[in-house]
Amino acid sequence: MTKLWGGRFAGQTNALVHRYQSSIGFDIRLYGEDITGSVAWARGLADAGLLSANERDTLLGGLEAVRAEFAGGAFVVAPEDEDIHSAVERRLTELVGPVGGKLHTGRSRNDQVATDFRLWVMRACDQLAEAVAETQRALTDSATTAVELPLPGYTHLQHAQPVTWGHWALSHFWPLERDRARLAAVRRTAAVLPLGAAALAGTAFAIDRVALAARLGFEAITPNSLDAVSDRDFAAEFLFATALLGVHLSRLSEQLILFSSAEFGFVRLDDAYSTGSSIMPQKKNPDTLELTRGKSGRLIGHLTGFLATLKGLPSAYDKDLQEDKEPVFDAADTLALALPVMAGLLRTMALRPERMAAQLEGGLLATELADHLVRRGLPFREAHHLAGRVVRHAEERGVPLTALSAAELAAISPQFGPDTTEVLTVPAALAARSVPGGTAATAVRAQLAEARRLVGQSDEQDGQ
Ligand code: ARG
Repeated sequence: MTKLWGGRFAGQTNALVHRYQSSIGFDIRLYGEDITGSVAWARGLADAGLLSANERDTLLGGLEAVRAEFAGGAFVVAPEDEDIHSAVERRLTELVGPVGGKLHTGRSRNDQVATDFRLWVMRACDQLAEAVAETQRALTDSATTAVELPLPGYTHLQHAQPVTWGHWALSHFWPLERDRARLAAVRRTAAVLPLGAAALAGTAFAIDRVALAARLGFEAITPNSLDAVSDRDFAAEFLFATALLGVHLSRLSEQLILFSSAEFGFVRLDDAYSTGSSIMPQKKNPDTLELTRGKSGRLIGHLTGFLATLKGLPSAYDKDLQEDKEPVFDAADTLALALPVMAGLLRTMALRPERMAAQLEGGLLATELADHLVRRGLPFREAHHLAGRVVRHAEERGVPLTALSAAELAAISPQFGPDTTEVLTVPAALAARSVPGGTAATAVRAQLAEARRLVGQSDEQDGQ
């Protein structure tokens, strides 16, 4: 078989080596970017006087014919096609004849692959950001249906203070909002054109790189040709953005796995988003959530693995860089499923307010006791200590704080006063936290309005 680079070789490549170094198995999905890049390059060559208008049009027609073959599923990969770049050029030359051999003038696969991959990552950032926004909308809609619904808030997974469902749901919205910002930043990192760097030293032809960048939708051109062909920061940043997004989805998953257990029972997952057990008839398993939690490990692995690949590389292109694509593709594919699955699960799960209410009886109001004494002028440390004694007293009696009488409280400290029982309620605890970002209904509604605006939703809030 004939290689692009076969001229200086007398012998054939070992068959296993050919398989080992081929990337067509996975980089075939870059065909659109590869052809778009070549179309722009052919125009650039013509503008620089290196192709006649006729030759340019022949190449452009041929490239579009190859694109149509890929799009229609008619493209046949030949044994010598080691990657998408050689495959496109081989087929182009078959279709248009020897003029196809002019396309690679002043260009290398090194700047070509960097260009293709950047274009792909730019599009992937846009698509992922939209999928993230859809999951965020599922969270804002969940928050909207139960803004003021109280449930226990936890720290250390122990009862802490009451919060509202709106507040809880939005606590998972904001990490995703930052993920979207990160994806937009990765897109900007990627939107720098390497084409014109050629193999490493810069192309020897008078190509207008700035015009090329504009034609391809890049925002800038790379300032150094050696850096241009070795830089994969955009891929590493993409892997970080996706790993952290995965971590955020994993944390949400973990919380919903707990909330859907018999012990919590705060939510009930829809049948469409859970699975059963082959042996235990009562089981309804949160497999989707467990998979998302599990897959976050794989996303982290892609990032650390790829950073390890990069760390030993000297200047310019090394074949190690071919290892950039599979982790990036897999991260994008993983999240392209995980995000809509999460959105659907959130939209279909049922809330169980009665189960949440049953858990609000315990010690969650102890902070209210301390805050009450602070409002009466006691130093917080002293107030905290007295409230702690009330908690111990309630525990010794085996009753919730709210069951203690005013006399019992006064016996611990006269400072508690007869109005203490008024602050010892869930609504009072929630209402007190009206600081911006707090869990009071007014604050959560303001937060919700801002969240809905950020993901393009109207400000209509049903409440309940
Ligand atoms: N398939 C290669 C890759 O993905 C394309 C660049 C090859 N360049 C080279 N000099 N062998 O990295």
